[in-house]
Amino acid sequence: MTISKRKDQHIKIAKNKNSQYNSTTGFEEIEFIHCALPELDLEKIELQTNFLGKKISMPMMIGSMTGGTALAKKINQALAKAAEEELVPLALGSYRPLLENENAASSFMVRKLCPSVPLIANIGAVQLKEYNIEKIEQAIKKTEADALAIHLNPLQESIQPEGQTNFEGVYQKIAELADALDVPVIVKETGAGINSEVAKKLANTAIKYVDVSGKGGTSWSKVEYKRGGKITGFEEWGYSTALAIVECSKFIKTIASGGIRNGIDAAKAIALGADMASASWPFLEKPAQKLKFFKEQLKRVMFLVGAKNIDQLKQAPLLIYGKLAHAMRLKNIALAYYAPRTIK
Ligand SMILES: Cc1cc2nc3c(=O)[nH]c(=O)nc-3n(C[C@H](O)[C@H](O)[C@H](O)COP(=O)(O)O)c2cc1C
Repeated sequence: MTISKRKDQHIKIAKNKNSQYNSTTGFEEIEFIHCALPELDLEKIELQTNFLGKKISMPMMIGSMTGGTALAKKINQALAKAAEEELVPLALGSYRPLLENENAASSFMVRKLCPSVPLIANIGAVQLKEYNIEKIEQAIKKTEADALAIHLNPLQESIQPEGQTNFEGVYQKIAELADALDVPVIVKETGAGINSEVAKKLANTAIKYVDVSGKGGTSWSKVEYKRGGKITGFEEWGYSTALAIVECSKFIKTIASGGIRNGIDAAKAIALGADMASASWPFLEKPAQKLKFFKEQLKRVMFLVGAKNIDQLKQAPLLIYGKLAHAMRLKNIALAYYAPRTIK
């Protein structure tokens, strides 16, 4: 099957609600502590922040999804317009179709539709063995991207009918590419999460961010199995988004994704230690409308915890319960740090 055909299948299957994990992100185990006396004006709350050298309206972005087909072009154009309208970063899907075939380039050429926002290119880590650095550099330049996200997807590749499962030497390839490129590099998962050991290792390279893309949102094991994948039993495999954020943010600047479905999830991700939140699946439909909804919710959370800007939201006290608290204890994470802290 051609890569393009696979990309369209991914979108069609992923769109269905059945493509989502039954397992949760862990955000349901987290509560903000309500502040009955915020001494703030809701309309003066500052959600703006900086990301990849650009000012954006809130710490939320549209996560990597697609490219390479007529359908992908339509989606990327709609996402680019929404990103510009709401002033949030846009991450594009894997550049593999473009690297294999110049004719696929037009679906990634959306810079003119979103001139003001950070635009992020994307490539699979295991595919770094196939392409030389110059070729990747050219593709980033051609599409006028501000950064490159390299995705780790061992779960997906191991279920995918055409999956590439030789991950030997991938870390070295990531380190070399991050050294060579002029643009910042992000390393992301694709929904199965990044733990502290991997984050620590990646923090020793020149990469700038880890995007945890944890368990609780889109399940790539489910999507690939529905495409005729190799094996069942891994539908709920992965590391939860909330736990991954807590761990990764100790070692490197962190983007939170995987099951972020509203502005309250995004706020929890920031309070747990992420600098940015990101979602993919929700933005397949009505992206601008959903971004507005995320923004309004995020603003209200900040009002209700007494945080006037994003720096203050990062200090908001949190109550952490249940399975997430248990996992944090097992991993020697100082659970008691989150509840007594105060916004300064
Ligand atoms: C239709 C679709 C296509 C995707 N394609 C890519 C991709 O090409 N590269 C990538 O790094 N991640 C890709 N992802 C994974 C997302 O970027 C994200 O890591 C994952 O879906 C978890 O986020 P979510 O729960 O908000 O969807 C894709 C996700 C969706 C829904």
